[in-house]
Amino acid sequence: MERTLSIIKPDAVRKNVIGEIISRFEKNGLKIAAMKKIWMTKQEAKGFYIVHKDKPFYDSLTDFMSEGPIVVMVLEGENAIAKNREIMGATNPANAAPGTIRKDFAENIERNAVHGSDSPETAAFEIKYFFSELEIF
Ligand code: PPS
Repeated sequence: MERTLSIIKPDAVRKNVIGEIISRFEKNGLKIAAMKKIWMTKQEAKGFYIVHKDKPFYDSLTDFMSEGPIVVMVLEGENAIAKNREIMGATNPANAAPGTIRKDFAENIERNAVHGSDSPETAAFEIKYFFSELEIF
């Protein structure tokens, strides 16, 4: 069993598609081990995306991620990290496969509906960023 961090981003929360997105995870065999709705400050978003601090999109991405509420989840299952990224689709919705979350709900490479950890190391950092062990079942 593997755990990964998933975020439903402010654009998708505003579109009122939280339930539709969560049901795709469940239908694909991922279990929601933890979940909460929060609103990050700019500082918190900057901390979360610290690995991208030198990228040209860092400021704009962290503005977007702190513009409204998000839903953060720990997903659990076999190969959860890869499975989640498959369900999400490519980062840029223009390249996302049909039937993926980003194909159906994302607007562009920044406002792209969902986030998912990309490695076991990233997942460990990201899960700890939002949840204590006592909140994950
Ligand atoms: S990289 O450079 O390969 O590490 O980037 P990538 O993994 O593709 O994307 C990391 C996150 O940055 C967002 N992103 C962007 N935001 C705004 N503008 C541009 N051009 C851009 N390119 C990438 C992308 O949505 C990723 O967000 P998360 O939340 O990690 O999915």
